[in-house]
Amino acid sequence: MNEKRSTFGSKLGMVAAAAGSAVGLGNIWRFPSETADGGGAIFIIVYITCILFFGIPLMVAEFLIGRSSRANAAGAFHKLAPDTPWKWVGRLGVLTGFVILGFYMVVCGWTVDYFIQSVTGSLKEVSDFSTNFNTLLANRPKQIGLMAFFVLLTAYFIFSGVQKGIERSAKIMMPVLFLLLIVLVVRALSLEGARGGIDFLFKPDFQEVKSTVFLDAMGQAFFSLSLGMGCMMTYASYFKDNTNLTATAVQVSVLDTLVALLAGMVIFPSAFALTTNPDTIVSELVAGGPGLLFITVPGLFNQMEGSMIWSAMFFLLLAIAALTSTISLMEVVTIYIQEEHKVSRKKGLLFVVIGVLALGALSALSPQFFNILDMASAKIMLPVGGLFISLFAGWYLDKKIVQVELTNDGKIKFGISFLKTYSFILKFLAPVAILLIFLYGLIG
Ligand code: PHE
Repeated sequence: MNEKRSTFGSKLGMVAAAAGSAVGLGNIWRFPSETADGGGAIFIIVYITCILFFGIPLMVAEFLIGRSSRANAAGAFHKLAPDTPWKWVGRLGVLTGFVILGFYMVVCGWTVDYFIQSVTGSLKEVSDFSTNFNTLLANRPKQIGLMAFFVLLTAYFIFSGVQKGIERSAKIMMPVLFLLLIVLVVRALSLEGARGGIDFLFKPDFQEVKSTVFLDAMGQAFFSLSLGMGCMMTYASYFKDNTNLTATAVQVSVLDTLVALLAGMVIFPSAFALTTNPDTIVSELVAGGPGLLFITVPGLFNQMEGSMIWSAMFFLLLAIAALTSTISLMEVVTIYIQEEHKVSRKKGLLFVVIGVLALGALSALSPQFFNILDMASAKIMLPVGGLFISLFAGWYLDKKIVQVELTNDGKIKFGISFLKTYSFILKFLAPVAILLIFLYGLIG
């Protein structure tokens, strides 16, 4: 492997690419339905706690493993811990990437369909958004076609390379999505009755704590931050030597959480304001499940002047946010095959595309299969991966490497004081917390 590995070109581009991986359907589609299911504010409290206590430290861990090894997810363990079983953690990550792509691409297809419905004006004519969504679900060939389109689109970006494809797209589109979400929040909050949604999101009702809320929130934290499968590791292998890893992890996590909260502040206030039966709104939100976003948000648009333009813009940006995430997922799998199995990028990519198309078609055909992939990845595979990554960085990895990476070889003073806390979290706090939540989730 003498071929020079690419790196990201600029600081902004690099943060944008990592944030682009994190911000995606996980924030805008998955977060609201998990929040509804988890009882609103309670879920959000547990979710944010997970991000603070082990999300950010784990992201730093992935960053330092990736940058110090400058290799793909499995190769990184191979380099830092030669001839040990640690490489299986990387391999599990690659497999997880496949599994996530297998259902995520189907949802990407839905966003494309809603974009088309917005542009053609047919979404404006809809009166029952739940039926509208179910009609799409019932049309299997259409779902498969849209999914396949998205898989090929992602592959195109992967093929055109790191710097050009990933970085350039992320840098422009992320800020636009952010601005649009803010506009939508303002609009949603101005609806009469929006208050109920805000209360649901931010006023905890401790009587309603479900036993599954911890595992669900932890899974969502991993999923949303792209952690536990070597994705941030792979991206960090393209980071420059002077990138401040801790600061980048904090920036990416804050951005990601903000986008999720903004999405919640669009969806819940609109749902509460626009419902015709306020008594059953919470159970309706829960029942919305994976369709929640595609049922409530079009309802909000229909209340707005120029609804077609707004909804077209929203679904386009959503598709783009999803694209920067699918690119990161597909990159993990492709660079793994390319480097570990020594095949050309093109060949590796072809293999990935075929695999994802097969899984995606199965998820489009069977909602059960879709759910299994979703649950298995977020609630089992990512946390297990995260557990081992934290054990690796906390116990196995040479302290010297950790220190050099965190301080950029002594240049970042803050890194030194952070070192002790960091090693405590990765050695004890994160692994124990993940294990406990896991066991509790299995029994509960
Ligand atoms: N974080 C992405 C999202 O929220 C999904 C993802 C998970 C991407 C894991 C990469 C790795 O949409």
